[in-house]
Amino acid sequence: MKNILVTGGAGFIGSNFVQYILDHSDIIRVVNLDLLTYAGNLANLKGCENDERYHFVRGDIRDRELLKQLFSEYEIDTVVHFAAESHVDRSITEPEIFLSTNVLGTQALLDVAKDSWKIEPDNKYSREYREAVRFLQVSTDEVYGALGKEGMFTEVTPMAPNSPYSASKASADMVVRAYHNTFGLPINITRCSNNYGPYQFPEKLIPLMIHNAQNDKSLPVYGDGMQVRDWLHVKDHCAAIWTVLQKGRIGEVYNVGGNNEKANIEIVKLILKQLGKPESLIEYVQDRPGHDRRYAIDNTKITTELGWQPEYTFEQGIEETIEWYLQNSEWVENVTSGDYLQYYELMYN
Ligand SMILES: NC(=O)c1ccc[n+]([C@@H]2O[C@H](COP(=O)([O-])OP(=O)(O)OC[C@H]3O[C@@H](n4cnc5c(N)ncnc54)[C@H](O)[C@@H]3O)[C@@H](O)[C@H]2O)c1
Repeated sequence: MKNILVTGGAGFIGSNFVQYILDHSDIIRVVNLDLLTYAGNLANLKGCENDERYHFVRGDIRDRELLKQLFSEYEIDTVVHFAAESHVDRSITEPEIFLSTNVLGTQALLDVAKDSWKIEPDNKYSREYREAVRFLQVSTDEVYGALGKEGMFTEVTPMAPNSPYSASKASADMVVRAYHNTFGLPINITRCSNNYGPYQFPEKLIPLMIHNAQNDKSLPVYGDGMQVRDWLHVKDHCAAIWTVLQKGRIGEVYNVGGNNEKANIEIVKLILKQLGKPESLIEYVQDRPGHDRRYAIDNTKITTELGWQPEYTFEQGIEETIEWYLQNSEWVENVTSGDYLQYYELMYN
């Protein structure tokens, strides 16, 4: 692993991952390909700008000519594919871009990786690839659908996505799997639970609630707020991806989660308490259509087979995260201006 192409590296998890590998590895080159949609922000990467191993390219994962050029120019041997439309609410109002980016974009990347890495690209029966190449698809536990009160998702839980977002991610995972089975492309898929931490766009639960509470705005909570998610600090997710790249068995799926189940309303109350704000700011709003009730990840495979363990406790992680948002209000102001405000009005008013 020498030259990594990170797609979506200006987004929340991607930017944390770029910083993580520059800090934790002797990787030669990190090429960050990002379209800079509303969710991508180069301010997330200020710490990397002076690292000569880091290269930013603004572009679309669906642009095959650009991809071919990048694979050749930077001698890419590893792809870590984050780029996606990632917000479930937006997938309800604009499903098409989710299918286009998340499914067709993934397929474009797979095609270019296959053709660049295959030793005999014109031989359809050949399954021989250059040494040590790998395509890692960053996916989500949402592909498995919703759980009742009991049970956990394992890697063999059938996919049953319920939103256009999760359907697009499940479809992309299927295409990645097919490229492994049909063409022998060396792949892994990671399916992680909900992430939290620095640089998360404030449309997602935790930064949204911190931002509103800080500004004495109402905190919109969907339905009864009893939707349960399994929360993981973004740095633990980055470490899990890095572990899979180094030790994961080719072709395998690894679930990633921190055994940290919390109902949304619990998190909202915890944020209010930590900020010293009253619970009267909570405003229950009509539930999201098709809102999954509960997700929970069984992380036995990645912990026992690869030795990965989450390092953050939720209490430590959430405290640090709240503090980060308080200390970085300028970042929040920048990303909450303009288009985002119109979108916010549409969703919650
Ligand atoms: N956030 C979570 O809790 C979570 C959990 C599990 C898995 N994931 C997955 O991790 C990945 C990253 O999630 P995130 O929360 O960081 O998302 P994000 O929305 O913060 O970032 C997505 C990035 O992709 C870029 N992008 C979008 N379309 C593009 C295109 N066509 N070409 C190039 N770049 C494009 C955006 O500009 C942005 O920088 C996604 O694939 C998501 O499905 C997220």
